Amino acid sequence: MSDDYYFSIKRKRPEELYESVLDYFKNDTLSSYAKSKSIMRIQRKITLRALEIMELKENHCLILDAGCGPGFVAIYLNELGHKTIALDIISDFLNFYDIKDLNPILADMCYPPFQPNIFNAIISISALQWIYKDSDLEKKRLELIGLFKSFYSILKPNGKAVFQFYPKNKAILDDIGNIIAENTKFKGNFIIDNPNNPKKRKIFLILKKE
Ligand SMILES: C[S@@+](CC[C@H](N)C(=O)[O-])C[C@H]1O[C@@H](n2cnc3c(N)ncnc32)[C@H](O)[C@@H]1O
Repeated sequence: MSDDYYFSIKRKRPEELYESVLDYFKNDTLSSYAKSKSIMRIQRKITLRALEIMELKENHCLILDAGCGPGFVAIYLNELGHKTIALDIISDFLNFYDIKDLNPILADMCYPPFQPNIFNAIISISALQWIYKDSDLEKKRLELIGLFKSFYSILKPNGKAVFQFYPKNKAILDDIGNIIAENTKFKGNFIIDNPNNPKKRKIFLILKKE
């Protein structure tokens, strides 16, 4: 990414106001997210863009939806013909809709409970900002290293991972890029749609296991 591109969001977002995602997504907040048709539409649109960025060669891939929430992304991937495993850290999300066909797994995506070389692809939509919020938190940095190392391991050779997320500023992107380069053999880059329009800006990270 070009060094002359900067952004920094001043407004505090939930991931900065709440220590843990489990403290934020509960009760009414959780159910209004899960019931929202407009969020569902947005997440489906982001999923399509993520698939476009991944350029999967096969039609019926095994895909992990990491941080699936109520399952908007996983359900859509399933409709598109992919076999999907939906993973989240919040059990109330996994039980909101009947998603048992999506093999829901309650786990922390920094420590995904899978054998090596299983998935053709991993998709994670609107979740990574909860894991890596700020560069001065060493514990978060270690968790992120765990996440990228694990994702590298559970992907098949030539497998790809794509993340769409909402980092607070460009420094976070630089940090994430460095963590990946220092700790894994992933090749990848950031793709920013509508970079100069903060309301429409969408940030993707695409990684390939070679
Ligand atoms: C904004 S929601 C997005 C949900 C879903 N991906 C979607 O597009 O609708 C963020 C999700 O990330 C999940 N999440 C955050 N940190 C996680 C972690 N360490 N492991 C697993 N899931 C996590 C949250 O529980 C929540 O369901």
